[in-house]
Amino acid sequence: MFAEWGTDPVFCEHAGWSPGTALADRREWWAAMIAQPPPGLIRLAASVSGEIVGYVDLNGSESDRRELGYLIGGRDRWNRGLGTLVARAGLAYGFDVLRLRTIWAETIDANVASVAILRRIGMREIGFGGEAEFLGVGSRYRQFELSDVEFAALSA
Ligand SMILES: CC(C)(COP(=O)(O)OP(=O)(O)OC[C@H]1O[C@@H](n2cnc3c(N)ncnc32)[C@H](O)[C@@H]1OP(=O)(O)O)[C@@H](O)C(=O)NCCC(=O)NCCS
Repeated sequence: MFAEWGTDPVFCEHAGWSPGTALADRREWWAAMIAQPPPGLIRLAASVSGEIVGYVDLNGSESDRRELGYLIGGRDRWNRGLGTLVARAGLAYGFDVLRLRTIWAETIDANVASVAILRRIGMREIGFGGEAEFLGVGSRYRQFELSDVEFAALSA
């Protein structure tokens, strides 16, 4: 299903996936990715009632600090709160299971839904990264962070 999401060019534009890739090539790419994920990447599939609806990433090579990323597919599942749930689940996994000290995230400022998610799950804004483009609009990365202590306070 990950590969199929890529057949929707609007989805690709939002997710930063290349829209022109053939489905067979996407399937091959995903099979290789699942069989042998890149070093440092922990990618957890998110499922609702047995259906895969997205994934959450905790990425990085440091033992106590990783980057949060998330995606919901296909596009018909957006705006139902799933992105927020999946991002929160990523924080819980990172702090409770991996015992990280810090989780950080960055998202393009013009990606309003993603910025809304990071704010809603309680991540603290730490500034801006480099320039980036989203849906043809010039923007920049907005960066966030959360410590284990802050997460414990949010969860209390
Ligand atoms: C970003 C993404 C995960 C959001 O998933 P989702 O399931 O729609 O997220 P939620 O429903 O939990 O929340 C989305 C919020 O953004 C808001 N939103 C969405 N589009 C919006 C827009 N164009 N303008 C203003 N607000 C918008 C929604 O109203 C919602 O906020 P609310 O609950 O306060 O109403 C999904 O669009 C996606 O997978 N995008 C591609 C990958 C990506 O951008 N990942 C993030 C980079 S780390």
